[in-house]
Amino acid sequence: MGRLDGRVALVTGAGRGHGKAVAIRFAEEGAAVAVCDILPVDELDGSVGERIRAAGAESLCSQTDVSKEEQVRKLVQQTIDRFGTIDILVNVVGIAGPTKDVWQMSLEEWRETLAVNLDSAFLGCKYALPEMIRKRRGRVINFSSGTGKQPLSHRTPYATSKMGILGFTRTLAADVGRYNITVNAICPGSHEERGVELERARAEYREEPFDEEAVRNRYREPRPNAVLAGRWCGDEGFVEKGAGSEEAAAIALFLASDDAASMTGQDINSGGWVMW
Ligand SMILES: NC(=O)c1ccc[n+]([C@@H]2O[C@H](COP(=O)([O-])OP(=O)(O)OC[C@H]3O[C@@H](n4cnc5c(N)ncnc54)[C@H](O)[C@@H]3O)[C@@H](O)[C@H]2O)c1
Repeated sequence: MGRLDGRVALVTGAGRGHGKAVAIRFAEEGAAVAVCDILPVDELDGSVGERIRAAGAESLCSQTDVSKEEQVRKLVQQTIDRFGTIDILVNVVGIAGPTKDVWQMSLEEWRETLAVNLDSAFLGCKYALPEMIRKRRGRVINFSSGTGKQPLSHRTPYATSKMGILGFTRTLAADVGRYNITVNAICPGSHEERGVELERARAEYREEPFDEEAVRNRYREPRPNAVLAGRWCGDEGFVEKGAGSEEAAAIALFLASDDAASMTGQDINSGGWVMW
């Protein structure tokens, strides 16, 4: 018996990384899973749809830009049309945004990051919540970041959006608790591809050489010395093995499961970068 048997989940940004891991984990636990990404449907189906079906679950793959209202409305409707309902919404999508200072950034760059990272969560909830309210049951899980709780230099739009996700999560939790709907956030760790992209952007900002192999090795090699007393939020965090997509998916599974029925308005950290 799976922990999500009979449930229907919608996971955004499931083409790779944390979203992909969440979709597959949910499928392994018995949920029918709708996934979306900006990637073409064939690519999404090849990367994650097939894995969902291989786990014995039903899948629905859509090419959706989650910052666009009409596309999100359609995505939610398609999910309900296909599976009859929606029980769990996981707003995973988040772009890194520019690595620039405010005075060098265009308003367009600022707005794009907020639209993809914050409007997407609003839109997913706007269209999925009526079905959850109708059933008097639902789970919303929003992906924030350790950067939702502390600054990340030269990345103001990203930090603002991730801090905004926490405010959105807490306030929405207060508003929908009476409908037996919980709303929680995950502040996950990093996976290799995203880590490489971010370190590259940081090196470019600093006009320093970029050593891709060294960054990749950080994800591949055990880090027995990661736990150092007194370290200030080291890039590696405070757990020995780091915390990537599988760990984020495990937290999402818990929040989606019956075990987390009494948890709402919370933000759960993975990886030990932050401890509050
Ligand atoms: N990986 C990390 O280092 C890290 C750390 C902290 C928080 N997070 C957060 O976790 C979430 C997942 O991160 P990740 O690193 O797995 O992401 P990722 O960059 O690996 O994957 C994101 C996916 O979202 C898709 N996407 C991008 N824009 C989209 C849009 N407008 N509409 C639909 N799909 C879109 C991409 O094509 C991609 O497949 C994000 O919200 C991110 O901010 C990640």
